[in-house]
Amino acid sequence: PSWCRQTGGERGRVCGVEHQRGRVCGYYGKVLKKTVDLKTNACMTPSSPVPLPIRQALKMVHPDVSDKYYGCGLVVPESLQGCRVLDLGSGSGRDCYMLSQLVGEKGYVTGIDMTEDQLEVARTYVDYHMKEFGYKKPNVSFVQGYIEALKEAGIEDGSCDIIISNCVVNLSPDKKRVLEEAFRVLKDGGEFYFSDVYSSGRLTEELRRHQVLWGECISGALWWEDLLLLAGEVGFSAPRLVTAKPVTVDNSELQSILGDFRFVSATYRLFKVPAGARTPALVMYEGNVAGLEESFTLDTHYTFKVEEAVAVDGEVAEILSRSRFSDAFTVQRGAPAPPGVAAPRVRTELSGEVPVPSSPS
Ligand SMILES: C[S@@+](CC[C@H](N)C(=O)[O-])C[C@H]1O[C@@H](n2cnc3c(N)ncnc32)[C@H](O)[C@@H]1O
Repeated sequence: PSWCRQTGGERGRVCGVEHQRGRVCGYYGKVLKKTVDLKTNACMTPSSPVPLPIRQALKMVHPDVSDKYYGCGLVVPESLQGCRVLDLGSGSGRDCYMLSQLVGEKGYVTGIDMTEDQLEVARTYVDYHMKEFGYKKPNVSFVQGYIEALKEAGIEDGSCDIIISNCVVNLSPDKKRVLEEAFRVLKDGGEFYFSDVYSSGRLTEELRRHQVLWGECISGALWWEDLLLLAGEVGFSAPRLVTAKPVTVDNSELQSILGDFRFVSATYRLFKVPAGARTPALVMYEGNVAGLEESFTLDTHYTFKVEEAVAVDGEVAEILSRSRFSDAFTVQRGAPAPPGVAAPRVRTELSGEVPVPSSPS
């Protein structure tokens, strides 16, 4: 967007959505120079121990790119080889360059972001990374555009296997539109796997207008229950929680403004599988996902050990049989659960395991 390029988002005359986008653009394009400039840890919450292949892939990313990383989670789903991945709000491109290695030369990663300054950093290092990875032609590109308007940015219907996003959806003034666009551009069976910040309740208008808290990925946070609602309205499977960690606002002034609201950085996975009648099933993991020969973890509730029968609800059965994991599972629909088989549990909400969301009273 030209106003973003020309002014870094400082233009005060634009209003509403554009004004909000302008402020975010200015924050990430001009105000912040490096990860250390952040005032809260929302956009830098570290995830649980990072697996070795991912650590190695991250090490290969140029420091100028990593220095401008503002993500809040690890957005690396399984079985990436050969996949077409879209990164919503790719920033300086750290995750794109990490995933570029994991999808391999036959896969492709597209990053989309609205902030020219961030895109410029990302694009500067395409040749560097391709040379480092030993690729003959680039498998990464960066597009300028809005995550609410992927069509205008040239992203076709059903063109992506996987969409990832790292600490960006909270910055969008129209989160439902983001989910609708993600749903449109995913292939059938595709997955939206993303890390973001969630709140313990619906935030007040006053908080949502706070410029720094919005830019720091706090006051735009969705109430986690609203994510469940929006995902269902758009047609996605119920969000499945992968990880969650509390976000701390180590700044007393900002913390006092936030009152009793609490925040987590969480990674959810949403699948594009057909809606409709669902039949529970018995499933068995074959152990053939690279690097996961012993067990496969779908979310906080389902870890499938190799060759062990597990009873799952109809939606999980759909996910395992329609997604890119279909070759890794045998799915026997309507089969009665034999004695001793783990019972299906459907709990996607942010509770229990994580010391988080109780709504402020
Ligand atoms: C917190 S940073 C995260 C960047 C990147 N994902 C990372 O992990 O380093 C948020 C990024 O999202 C971009 N962004 C925010 N809202 C956007 C929108 N509506 N459309 C496109 N990009 C957006 C910003 O320009 C910024 O680069």
